[in-house]
Parts: sequence; C-alpha cells; structure tokens
Amino acid sequence: MKSEGLTLEKQKVAANSTCSSSQTDDPVSAFTSLAGLGSQDQTSYGPGASFEVRPPSRAAMARQAPLPAEYRSLLPDEIDTRIAEARRRLGDRLVILGHHYQREEIIRHADLRGDSFKLSQLAAGRPDAEFIVFCGVHFMAESADILSGPDQQVILPNLAAGCSMADMANLDDVAACWDELARVCGPGTIPVTYMNSVADLKAFCGENGGVVCTSSNAPALVEWAMRQGERVLFFPDEHLGRNTAHRLGLGRSIVWDPRKPLGGNTVEELRQSQVVLWKGFCSVHERFTVEQIETARLEHPDITIVVHPECRREVVAAADMDGSTEFIIKVIEEAPAGSQFAVGTEINLVRRLQAEHPDKLIFCLDPIVCPCSTMYRVHPAFLCWALENLVEGRVVNRIAVDDSTRRWARVALDRMLDLGA
Ligand code: 13P
Ligand code: SF4
Repeated sequence: MKSEGLTLEKQKVAANSTCSSSQTDDPVSAFTSLAGLGSQDQTSYGPGASFEVRPPSRAAMARQAPLPAEYRSLLPDEIDTRIAEARRRLGDRLVILGHHYQREEIIRHADLRGDSFKLSQLAAGRPDAEFIVFCGVHFMAESADILSGPDQQVILPNLAAGCSMADMANLDDVAACWDELARVCGPGTIPVTYMNSVADLKAFCGENGGVVCTSSNAPALVEWAMRQGERVLFFPDEHLGRNTAHRLGLGRSIVWDPRKPLGGNTVEELRQSQVVLWKGFCSVHERFTVEQIETARLEHPDITIVVHPECRREVVAAADMDGSTEFIIKVIEEAPAGSQFAVGTEINLVRRLQAEHPDKLIFCLDPIVCPCSTMYRVHPAFLCWALENLVEGRVVNRIAVDDSTRRWARVALDRMLDLGA
C-alpha cells in the first residue's frame, strides 16, 4: 500500500497494523505454548530454553517447576494488584529490572529498565537491594549475579526464559574450536564473547586473555583484541561479529560451524583469517530483510531505517543507521516531531517507542512476527509468584554463578570496563 500524501496519523494506522507484541493474549496458553508448562507434572527446559541446540555445559541446569494452579487462573488485574502489594511489602529490599524487550505488563512493574549490560550495572549500583528480580533472560540474570554484591540474590521469574542465540555456543564446542585454531594456526587467537552468552563462556574469555563486549562497544573491543593477537574468535553471534569486522575494515572473516571438521574451513582459510565468526544468530534479528527495507522506503519516502547490529550484514548495509537498543532509543528520542522510523529490532521495544512518541511515525520492519519468544516467557504470573514467595521468606529461581566461573567471567567483564568501552 502506498502512503504518499497520507497524514502522519493515517500512516501510523497503516504501519501499526503489522507485527504484534503479544504472542497470545491468553496467559494460560502463554505458559503452555511458550514455557512448556502445559500440565502440572511437566517441567520445562531450563537454561538453554530454545530448540535444536545443546544446553550450556556448565551453567546451572535447574528447571522451571510448574507454576502453582492458583497463579495460572489469575486475571491480569488481580496479578497487577498482587505484584504491587508484594513490591510494597518488600520495599527497598527489592529491585525489579526490566529489559527493553519485555512486554508492557512487566515493564510497568520494573524499577529500572535498560539493555542487559546497563541493567546489570544499575543493579550493582543498588547494593541495598537484597533481591534483584531480573525480568529478562538467563544470561542477563547471570551477568547481574556476577556484577552484584555477595549479599544480593538474583532471581529470574521463569527459568525457561533462555536465549536461543546464547545457547548456540557452549563451552565444550568453543574450547574445541580454540584448541583447533591453536593446533592449525599456532597461538594468538583472542576470544571475544558477546554479552549474550552463558557465564562459562565469559569465564573462558577471562581465563584466556579475551574479553566480553556489548552491541555498542563491539568495535572498540574487537579492535583491542586484534592488537593482542593474530586473530579474533567471536561468539556466539555471527552477524554482530561480521558487522563489527566490516566496520573495522577487517576483510578476512570466516565462519566456524561447530558441526563440521575445521568448522567447515580449509587449513589455509583458517591461517589467513583475521576474524573467526561463530555460527550463531538471534532468531528475532535474523528475520529482518533488505526487501522489508525496500518496502518501507517505497511506502514512506522520508523514512529513516535503524536496525540492531544482530541483523544480517546486508540488512545493516541497507539501513541508514545501526546500533544497540540503547542507541535506537536515543536516536528516536532525539529526533524532531514528525520524524519517521522503521525499526529492525524486537517488537515490544518498538511498540513502547510508538506509545512514548505519538508525534513520530515509528513501526517495525517485520510485518509478520518478531517478538523474542524466550523473553516472553516472563509472564506477569511468574513475576507475581516469585515476589509472593520472597514476601513469605522463600527465594525461588535464584541464579547463582559458581565461584570459579564468576571469578573468571568478572575478569573478562572488568577488562571491558577497564578499556573504557
Ligand atoms: P542489547 O540490548 O544489548 O542491544 O542486545 C539486544 C538483545 O538481543 C538482547 O537480548
Ligand atoms: Fe536472545 Fe535474540 Fe531474544 Fe535477545 S532478542 S534474548 S539475542 S533470542
């Protein structure tokens, strides 16, 4: 549909009739279809809650117990009221963190919202809070545990809220790749892990001269890593790695597929490589395409396309701008009234930006489906259940990284912070 000549209001109606932020409006089917909590005796897949991937090897493998029946039948208003009452009773002992990709029904209860790293830092700045309830996914709660104080406990309301990308790289496979690179190419491969990874991979980087990066500081940290050695092994996101290498002008990137001998490369290709990209991706951001960008430009000639660097290289190349969720928010916030944006990131964030900036046209590039299904597993009923247990003096769903992993992961995170990135 061409929208040239339409008012901003009409363009909004047209653009907003696309991707939905709710996967289902029915809370019970949200449990059953998304969290595997269909029957009372069924436990769901814990950390590593995605499909066709091997769960992380050393991560805590607790599984989500079925939600008590009482919580499954609560109406949304009842859940809201009970969450508010539990928060009131816990007072300053509690801080609730909400990632930008959480649904509105969760964000309204969050004390702080942000991307994964910002939230972990904010939590570390609240040493008075005994309980950090992280409404996000498993790797984020681990990072919060690593960065928080010894007297703080981090809670993930639904243990089935994993991250399919983080689960695509596990310690055994990454260590095998690193050993293979050393055998074929000699020493000098620096491991760099994206924040969106399990704690033991962050620890692997800490132990082996590597570093953690976020989507905003990846170029600075890959550049640093290139100065430390011959090549960078970047995991788990192939696309963020490729976009970063491109930005730095590093031309010799190869992909490592852990299912293939030598990752699917020849000895010569390995020896020539500057960046070895792990074959992993975000199922949300991989959906965005160049065709979607072309359609948005055709329908809205004044549109600005802004995408997350977890999108494919050709999508980032076709967009006007790319950056982390915090970057996307800043760009839209600072734009003058009447600006138009097609956004390539998770739909709950896009919907919130729309609601907060009614004077701008903002819509999601993907017209079909782009919520993060694992983030969505943090249903308000799980939050209510976790908080009411805290009120009763019971800590449920604690995410506690073991001491050795925590120590080395902290080394990799501190290296990032020390580099000022
Ligand atoms: P950032 O919020 O760090 O940009 O990462 C996006 C994401 O995919 C979080 O899971
Ligand atoms: Fe993982 Fe992608 Fe969901 Fe982020 S948006 S939690 S990277 S699957």
